[in-house]
Formats: sequence, structure tokens, C-alpha cells
Amino acid sequence: MSDLLIRGRVLTFVSEPQGIDDGDSYRFYEDGAVLVRNGKIAGVGSYGDVARQAGQGVRIADHRPHLVMPGLIDTHLHFPQTQAIASYGAQLLEWLNTYIFVEEQKFELSEHAAFIAGRFMDELISNGTTSAVAYCSVHPESVDAFFTAAEERNMLMIGGKVLMDRNAPEALRDTPQRGYDETKRLIASWHGRGRAHYAISPRFAITSTPEQMEMSRALVAEHPDCYVQTHLSENRDEIAFATSLYPQARDYTDIYARYSLLGRKTLLGHCIHLSDGELSVLADTGAVGVFCPTSNLFLGSGLFDRDRFDKLGARHSVATDVGAGTSFSMLETMGEAYKVLHLQGQRLSPLNSFYMMTLGNARALELEHRIGSLHIGADADIVVLDSRAKSAMELRMQVASSLAEELFILQTMGDDRCVAEVYVAGCAMKRRRETVGAHQA
Ligand code: GUN
Ligand code: ZN
Repeated sequence: MSDLLIRGRVLTFVSEPQGIDDGDSYRFYEDGAVLVRNGKIAGVGSYGDVARQAGQGVRIADHRPHLVMPGLIDTHLHFPQTQAIASYGAQLLEWLNTYIFVEEQKFELSEHAAFIAGRFMDELISNGTTSAVAYCSVHPESVDAFFTAAEERNMLMIGGKVLMDRNAPEALRDTPQRGYDETKRLIASWHGRGRAHYAISPRFAITSTPEQMEMSRALVAEHPDCYVQTHLSENRDEIAFATSLYPQARDYTDIYARYSLLGRKTLLGHCIHLSDGELSVLADTGAVGVFCPTSNLFLGSGLFDRDRFDKLGARHSVATDVGAGTSFSMLETMGEAYKVLHLQGQRLSPLNSFYMMTLGNARALELEHRIGSLHIGADADIVVLDSRAKSAMELRMQVASSLAEELFILQTMGDDRCVAEVYVAGCAMKRRRETVGAHQA
């Protein structure tokens, strides 16, 4: 594949912004470029410098005046819930029983799983998301469909079969042994193949017996390089039910701690109603609390207390949580994150939002060497954002005077219409009609 020079207003973070205008936390090139070679980033900087490095004959994709940023990362969503978004009127446990456990039964059929997996990946790409951490259904076929669709698009994706052996319809229940055996087989098939990473996925304490939690412990011990994902402390009724099922545990977090499921590769969806003691356990183990603002508002679950995470030194990331989450768009997700924090008197600066959905989420996944920022040697997963994609945005942009203001407009008013192009490992995936021509140095 020949080299590609992507020209635009290049923005990438190097550290977590420490204030509303922390200029040291990012690099911005008003007339910038990213040089892509063999799916990786070979150069980044001002257009003049990178064009000189590229030399004659390089293909150029000119995206001016759009922003060129690292591909967005979503750290928690459910691919079998793609057609269950916008299911009306219930809180978590009723919503799961009424809608989700019905929908997920459809994934027993490989054809259905393959169809939704393809559409799911395309939807992520349309929204500028190049990597995500997803739950599949209980059926191993759904995991094959998921990673096959990711591989066809060369996307770096993390996922796994949910382990669930109680408190769900018979058709969605595995057994401790079957869940273990299927997970082992799926890890052997997929983990480390191309860009695929496996996540061991006990759904949550309510749907796993102690025997299945023991099997999860064994899987994690045998595969320490795999991720672990589950749900924690999303809703008051859920907490009461989960803790009643594990009476020896001190609290909900302790259920997972007792089965050695908490570590730096563990992603815990929601974490809304945690005590300081529980947050300290997250801080000590390095487990990541995943903030899912559209989902938490949609199900009426509560408000994620980011400042308390920071105060107690617990790690966090941000995610859509489709299908309780109401949008695939990380821009819309950050717009809602701003409001959730604002309601609690907490601030989310636009720089911080864009850090969170790129480098911040990459760090939460310990993948910052590969994704989440534009640095030499990183995978060339890149999103091109048009801050004037909607007429109301164009009007608003007429009076914007800073980069931070533009970013805030993007997250407050933006959606998939703002995603002008997406490159996955250097390949244009959204629209292939960018200006491509020989470079005249
Ligand atoms: N807790 C257990 N399963 C789920 C799920 O599918 N969605 C949400 N939001 N919470 C869960
Ligand atoms: Zn979830």
C-alpha cells in the first residue's frame, strides 16, 4: 500500500488536560498532516514538515478545514442490543427482563449475529469510533460473528461471550463448565489474532452463580492478558439483589474482589452508587469504572460521581453502553457527560472531553502505545470531524473564537453527521471521495 498524507487541522493529546485551557496537554497544527505508511503513523506535524518527509508522489487526502484526530474509543457497549435501543419505560432489571433478554435470544442464529455484527461495526465507524469494548451474547457464535466483522474491517476490537447461568431465561443460560469451555475456545480462536482482544465477561453478579464466578476466577488467572468486563452498582434494586445473592460479601464490589476479578484490565460498567470504601478498592486494584451517561439517564440509574473517583484515585473511562445508551456517538455521549457532571456541580472542559474519548480511554485499556493518539508508530486509526456539518452548527461556529469553543460545539451539537471520514489502520472507511492526488512538494 502506498503512503497516504492526511491533511487538516491536526489535534492530538499527550496528557490529561489540567484546566480549561491547558495548552501543554495537546498538540495542534492548524495546517497539519499525518503520514500513514503500512497502516501505521509514520509522521505527524505541520503540513510543510510532514509533506517534506513524505516526498514526491504520495497520495494526499485534503480534509481542510476539518479536524483530524485519533479515532474515538468506546469502552462499554452491547452489540446484541443494536436493535433494542429506545426500548420504553423501564429501569434496569425490568428493562433487562422485558426487552434485552428477549432480544439477545435472537443471537442463537449465526446468520442474525453476523448481520447485526456487520451493521454494528459500520455504525461505530459512521460515528467515528474505531475501537470498542463490547459484550456479545451468551452464544459463542455471536463472538465469532463479532470478531469476524471486526477483522473484515481491520478494527481493533475487544469483546467476549457473556457468562450467565441464572436469573435469565433458559435459552440464555450457560453452565459454569460450558461457559468456561466456550470462553477457553473463543480465547484460543480470537485473542491476539490480528487486532482482536478477548474480554472475559461475567455479565454481573445477579446472572452468575458462585460456581460460575469461580470459573471466571480460573479464566482470569489462566489468561491474565485478557480483559475482564462486568457491571457494578448501576441501580439500587440491582445492588440489593446482587448483595442478597452473595451474603458473605461486604458490598457489591467485594463480590468481584472475592473472585479475584479486579485488576488493571477490568472494566466495571456504571459504578454509580459506590461507597468510598468500594472506590478505594477500585483504586487499589486499578480496576476501571466506566461512565455511561446516556445509559444512566435513559434507565434513570443515577449520576456518575467523577470527582469522587479522582479524589480517591480510582481510574475511569467513558462509554455509550448501547443499547441502554441511546446513541453510538461518542460526541453525543460527551455532551450528556457534561450535563451529568454539571448537575452535580462538576466541570467537564471540552479539552477534557476530547482527551477522554481518545487518549484517556486508550490509557484505561492500557493501549495508549497503539491507539488514542497520533504519534509515530501508532496504528493509523483516525477520525475527521466537521464542526459545521449541521446548519445550526455552522451558524454557531461563525462566532466561535477558540479551539476549545469549537470542541464544545462539536460535543454539544454534534453527532455522526460531523464525522467526515474515518481511517481504520490507514484505510478510508466512511467516504471514499476525498481529494486524492499526487503531492506537489
Ligand atoms: N447489567 C447487566 N446487564 C446489563 C446490560 O445489558 N445493560 C446494562 N445497562 N446494565 C446491565
Ligand atoms: Zn452494559
